[in-house]
Amino acid sequence: MPVIVAIVSPKGGAGKTTLTAGLAGAAAICGKSCTIIDLDPQASITNWSDRRDEADDKISVVSCQVGRMKKAIEAAAEADLIVIDTAGRNDNSALESARIADICLTPIRMVVSELETLSAVRDILATAGKSDAGFVVINGVHTGVGDKAIADMRKLIETDFSMPVLPCVITHRQDHPTAFNCGKTIFETSEIMGKAGAEMSEIYSFLGVE
Ligand SMILES: Nc1ncnc2c1ncn2[C@@H]1O[C@H](COP(=O)(O)OP(=O)(O)O)[C@@H](O)[C@H]1O
Ligand SMILES: [Mg+2]
Repeated sequence: MPVIVAIVSPKGGAGKTTLTAGLAGAAAICGKSCTIIDLDPQASITNWSDRRDEADDKISVVSCQVGRMKKAIEAAAEADLIVIDTAGRNDNSALESARIADICLTPIRMVVSELETLSAVRDILATAGKSDAGFVVINGVHTGVGDKAIADMRKLIETDFSMPVLPCVITHRQDHPTAFNCGKTIFETSEIMGKAGAEMSEIYSFLGVE
């Protein structure tokens, strides 16, 4: 049975698609297969997969509408991991993917306007019956940001929004767009396990893919 992860955030640009590609890449270097289900009409991750040219690719991408998601998941029953990339707005892709997921991840940047979207995420998780399955991933942390600022942000999210935050953050690194632009994962450009890859692998290990 694949582990199903929904990437949920109503905020465009929060890092959903970056996290999706990163987790798929982390699975692939562990020899695991990953099916990405792209529910975003903008189809960024599907277009990324069109740019891929990997022999024996362990990553496959299915672009579908929400109404076809269950079928797409059934068809991916052999995969080790399914990651559902959702649209950055309040359509039903977030809710329906949360309903079916084992774990929901919400990438968020360290700005108040993004924090404010967490109430909507919590409502989605509650409606989906997945309040205990949602975790925030702090993304886009600039390298000068100290541990204290990150710890303060984590505490704020946990106290004011009652959502657990993963211990590992995603630093702002050019590796992410550079890899994405050429249809690669961050593990397939330059060093296999650079700093960006190490962070993503830590998040991946949290998913418990066996
Ligand atoms: N950690 C990061 N480091 C550098 N660039 C990032 C990072 N996360 C996201 N980005 C960039 O920010 C933009 C929006 O990210 P994306 O993953 O497409 O967000 P979403 O899918 O939530 O709309 C993209 O250009 C992406 O390359
Ligand atoms: Mg996206």
